[in-house]
Amino acid sequence: MEVQLVVDAKATLGEGPTWDHRTQRLYWVDIVEKKIHIYDPKKNETSQIPVDHQIGAVVVRESGGFIAATENGFYAINEQGEQTLIVDPEKELPHNRFNDGKCDPVGRFWAGTMHFDEDKPTGSLYVLDRDLTVRKMLTGITISNGLAWTSDQKTMYYIDSPTKQVAAFDFDLETGELTNKRIVVTIPDGEGIPDGMTIDADGNLWVAQWGGYKVSKWNPHTGEKLGEIKVPAKQVTSCVFGGENLDELYITSARRGLDEKELEAYPHSGGLFRVKTDVKGTESVFFKG
Ligand code: BGC
Ligand code: CA
Repeated sequence: MEVQLVVDAKATLGEGPTWDHRTQRLYWVDIVEKKIHIYDPKKNETSQIPVDHQIGAVVVRESGGFIAATENGFYAINEQGEQTLIVDPEKELPHNRFNDGKCDPVGRFWAGTMHFDEDKPTGSLYVLDRDLTVRKMLTGITISNGLAWTSDQKTMYYIDSPTKQVAAFDFDLETGELTNKRIVVTIPDGEGIPDGMTIDADGNLWVAQWGGYKVSKWNPHTGEKLGEIKVPAKQVTSCVFGGENLDELYITSARRGLDEKELEAYPHSGGLFRVKTDVKGTESVFFKG
């Protein structure tokens, strides 16, 4: 599987890719540079939407525009790039920001927070419901990251990066309640920490490894590693399936935390990469509120 650099974006903290199957475009963010990146593979065009706040994740809103999880709460962003605050559940925590986020199978937006210092368990996982109200679903999180749901909609997978683990929860589709936490994947020592993830049509997890130069593929039922994709960037941050047949894995990366030598050795750090896979992925879900 050959990894290809598709956008040499030199992102400081590229993250949160999401595939728009309607327009066949990929959206992703640069958290600290406060940007939404847009990539249109058919036209080979890129563009950006500047945002006013550090943006941890963006999802497409079915009714138009986007929903973003930022350092100052959830925002609606319209096609013109105008930003409107929906709700800031952590007004009293100025040292936290939102990080990774994704929509669940019914189109609620889940996103979690973290301390800017990355080493304090002050973060929480929130869900923005379709009526634009917010609920806190998990607490005591250090770096809230990857999210994925099984196709039977009964299980949610979740990563709090410093644990080096992927946890699974029983997921109540009606209410969004999470119960029965267990650990399903553990990233080996010396391979960095798990960051964003996605799930394929076979139910296997594809986990980006920050500090690990790779995306790894895991069977969450057995905890077994099924393979890996080497990426020419150390800080591999997230991945999502895209393309007409959902068999192309888009991978984001970061330049942050690299020294001169590492940047020289891996000049495309911060780029957007793509690799053709031998499996089908799952579609990114739009926000349905
Ligand atoms: C965060 C980074 C963090 C990294 C560690 C990312 O999702 O945005 O700030 O260093 O996760 O995995
Ligand atoms: Ca992330």
